[in-house]
Amino acid sequence: MLILAIESSCDETAAAVVKDAREIISNIVHTQLAEHSLYGGVVPEIASRRHMEKLSSVTKEALQQANLSLEEIDAIAVTAGPGLIGALLAGVNFAKGLAFASNKPLIPVHHVRGHVAACYLADSTLEPPFLCLSVSGGNSLIVRVDDYTDFKLLGYSRDDAAGEAFDKAARAMGLGYPGGVYIDNAAQSGNPDAYKLPSPHVEGSRLDMSFSGIKTAVVNLIHNAEQKGLEINKNDLSASFQKTVGDILINRLMLSCEMTGIKICCLAGGVSANSYLRSNLQKECLKRNIRLIMPPLSLTGDNAAMIGAQGYYEYLAGNVAKADLNAVATLSIEGVTAESFRV
Ligand code: KG4
Repeated sequence: MLILAIESSCDETAAAVVKDAREIISNIVHTQLAEHSLYGGVVPEIASRRHMEKLSSVTKEALQQANLSLEEIDAIAVTAGPGLIGALLAGVNFAKGLAFASNKPLIPVHHVRGHVAACYLADSTLEPPFLCLSVSGGNSLIVRVDDYTDFKLLGYSRDDAAGEAFDKAARAMGLGYPGGVYIDNAAQSGNPDAYKLPSPHVEGSRLDMSFSGIKTAVVNLIHNAEQKGLEINKNDLSASFQKTVGDILINRLMLSCEMTGIKICCLAGGVSANSYLRSNLQKECLKRNIRLIMPPLSLTGDNAAMIGAQGYYEYLAGNVAKADLNAVATLSIEGVTAESFRV
């Protein structure tokens, strides 16, 4: 089955053609990064406008690269939430028009389910049940994937998402946007034990996480140093921050394996590009004989191929939208059906 997928939940306008959830036929991503970095973060209104301008050409390019016409496509999948509401609406309305004009089924896809599905594209033999740590700018969560459309939330960040903490800590250090990439680069020549940062636990949960205190510790450290006229070593602080956040994520995922007895783990989302997280998670999984699947760097950030992959399984589960499809800014990953995105 050939699915044309559209993604516009944040600052990437993306379209892809995916075959049977496992094969990328084409994958086009137009990033708005340069424009948003002028403001140090995503400006929702600008994001929506750029999606409106780019959706048509990015989709045309995805079809051209696949060497397919719209008639040869079997269904259209679109990210319908969670995300920035204006940005989502741009993609949903575009996909709706395309689907109804061409008389194709329209499949609404949960954005984080899409990130998880990037792992089906990374390893074509991957099948549920497995655990997935999905870490991005908007969400940080650990899910048990019992079946392709059956997710159980095991743990999540109670405050900032891990990526959000990276971005805010980087801003405090005067590094660029998106902060994760800059911190990762700076950390390469830093000492991860130079600064002691807090590693908070959430009362009443062994798997939930909290990152805003670590970010605040970075901000306070910088302010204190400024007041005393002391220099902060940004490479050392980046390495310490990255290790603190990475260790929490790895600890919670390994604990989830212990608690569930599941020995297949996946990593997904923008923060899964982090070099410390990737290499240390690999080591921990090897020690415990856990199979680890990580998407290639090209599929860690927002893209439409992952939406096409998850869209296939949503279609098989009967999650096809009607004309009243809407976009939803916040939505749990559990129990999602086409009904979850209705007006
Ligand atoms: O998944 P994504 O592209 O968009 C969302 O759906 O949020 O994730 C973006 C996030 C940003 O917060 C960015 O700083 C972070 O992923 N990120 C990284 C790295 N590359 C991107 N964080 C840590 N290390 C990286 N190498």
